[in-house]
Amino acid sequence: MRRIWPPEEVTDLDEQALETLYRYPSPNWLVVNFVASVDGAVSVNGRAGSLSDEPDRRVLKLGSDLADVLLVGATTAMVEEFRGYHPDDETRARRNAHGLAPVPPTAVVTTGRSLPSDAPVITEAEVPSFVITPSSTPEKQRAAWAEAGATVLTCGTDTVDLAEAVRELAGRGLGRIDSEGGPHLFGALLAQGLVDELRVTASPVLVSGAAGRIVAGVEIEPASLELASVVAENDTLLMRYLVRHLGAH
Ligand SMILES: NC(=O)c1ccc[n+]([C@@H]2O[C@H](COP(=O)([O-])OP(=O)(O)OC[C@H]3O[C@@H](n4cnc5c(N)ncnc54)[C@H](OP(=O)(O)O)[C@@H]3O)[C@@H](O)[C@H]2O)c1
Repeated sequence: MRRIWPPEEVTDLDEQALETLYRYPSPNWLVVNFVASVDGAVSVNGRAGSLSDEPDRRVLKLGSDLADVLLVGATTAMVEEFRGYHPDDETRARRNAHGLAPVPPTAVVTTGRSLPSDAPVITEAEVPSFVITPSSTPEKQRAAWAEAGATVLTCGTDTVDLAEAVRELAGRGLGRIDSEGGPHLFGALLAQGLVDELRVTASPVLVSGAAGRIVAGVEIEPASLELASVVAENDTLLMRYLVRHLGAH
């Protein structure tokens, strides 16, 4: 991989240098990850997988390897078949070297509509997943998630108050937050000014069709981005942006 931005930092990156570039700069830092085609599609046939290539998977893995918690919307958790993080030996060594817990839990945001209690993200996780849901979610549904092994957090009334959710996670020592989507969750996080960094991979394909963009849902004021780094590998570009005026939490 080669860092090609900023100009004064142009260099080839070995694994250590890549890890340094993709570390969380603060113990409270929320990163959002996406891969999109060059024409802006976030999925092909409803899934992101075929957009992702080896360099994308490497930086995505660094994001989760160095995180305290993974954060996803219920749709992404189901469609992308999340099953909690199952670290390989490299990840375990990396997390140990950084003083992180052996396994980062996954936190799923939902009103209950899209997350059944037998979701693999709950039943197959190595450490208990969090289900973050508003107070309007029926007690029976919360009990079913808890029975299946999840830790249920209540934040907000009709929808999840994501600022409260982030505070709740940080209060449990889970301040390095690695959001792996999807677009509606990203929109809701942006609307509340909670995103510190966007990591987006431009996948060298064109998709056309009706696939969504990386942000969806609520209207937001356009968020201004500062380009922090660009890494290139073959035809793939991996960009890190800091979210300029919405990052306070
Ligand atoms: N290219 C990529 O990098 C990438 C990454 C991730 C996902 N994707 C793609 O994106 C698509 C899914 O998109 P999406 O936008 O529908 O997924 P999403 O953001 O993962 O999930 C949306 C769901 O999350 C829950 N949610 C989000 N914000 C909430 C809030 N404030 N309060 C309560 N619940 C909240 C709701 O679940 P309930 O319905 O349960 O209330 C909502 O329906 C899939 O095709 C997936 O493959 C692509």
